[in-house]
Amino acid sequence: MTAMPTMVVTGSGSGIGRATANVAARHGWSVIGVDIRDADVDADLSQDAQREAAVTNILARLDGRPLGALVACAGLAAGDASTIMKVNFFGATRLAEMLLPSLLAGPQGRAVVISSNALLHTPLWGNAAIEAALAGQEDEAAEAVKGQADLAYFTSKKALSLWVKREAVKPDWAGAGVLLNAIAPGATATPMIAGLLEDQQGRDFLMRMTPTRTPEVARPEAIAELACWLASTANRSVVGQTIFCDGGAEATLRPSAI
Ligand SMILES: NC(=O)c1ccc[n+]([C@@H]2O[C@H](COP(=O)([O-])OP(=O)(O)OC[C@H]3O[C@@H](n4cnc5c(N)ncnc54)[C@H](O)[C@@H]3O)[C@@H](O)[C@H]2O)c1
Repeated sequence: MTAMPTMVVTGSGSGIGRATANVAARHGWSVIGVDIRDADVDADLSQDAQREAAVTNILARLDGRPLGALVACAGLAAGDASTIMKVNFFGATRLAEMLLPSLLAGPQGRAVVISSNALLHTPLWGNAAIEAALAGQEDEAAEAVKGQADLAYFTSKKALSLWVKREAVKPDWAGAGVLLNAIAPGATATPMIAGLLEDQQGRDFLMRMTPTRTPEVARPEAIAELACWLASTANRSVVGQTIFCDGGAEATLRPSAI
């Protein structure tokens, strides 16, 4: 009997990460959850030392077995802007980079990061933050968004999707059979946007940002099912993509771009 493949899910304590861990377990994955507290592996993913400690802990749990998939969901949309950049971009990309050797050790590793369709709202003055992030300059990227939480969210997500596009096609990723992709959710009913969904003003704001055309706001399981498919060996050639899973918001906001 072959051992069940293992999936690492960050942000496993809430929302999309929790749904992904549950869906993955139903699909037969053995799941290692990572979150800031009360997870299999506790780590503050805004801190590089804690990211490294998390990877050491994960590798110890794998005990020599390869990692099957990483699904990086941990993220923040509000609060300290520099922390938003650090968690959303560097928390996902540093973990992916550090876990790549373990993904490469298996037959068909996969990695999925959760971006956001908020990347569509990135203003031009966000380019400095994006360039710093893509250059791996964490302090500079954090400084470039300082005091601007919305800018931090938009730029961290746009940088994340660009990082996926650029990394995924390299020899160490697709060339070695490890497929890397992103999902860009729109409004998804999790604690992250619960406050906005509570009143009409918040819902109107959300619908302007992410004009959902389906009758209902997505449930986190909708993102989780897609993440699990991208993380599975059923995905044989989707590479470097950001898949908008947003009830038609991207199609509404930019009908002429493909
Ligand atoms: N909910 C939405 O409408 C929506 C839309 C687009 C994208 N997203 C993205 O989906 C992902 C999941 O968000 P969610 O909606 O499930 O939100 P959530 O708030 O329910 O879950 C986020 C998780 O990330 C964890 N996290 C935050 N900071 C962390 C840190 N420093 N270290 C470790 N873990 C940390 C939290 O503890 C939490 O468990 C995020 O990346 C978010 O940006 C969400």
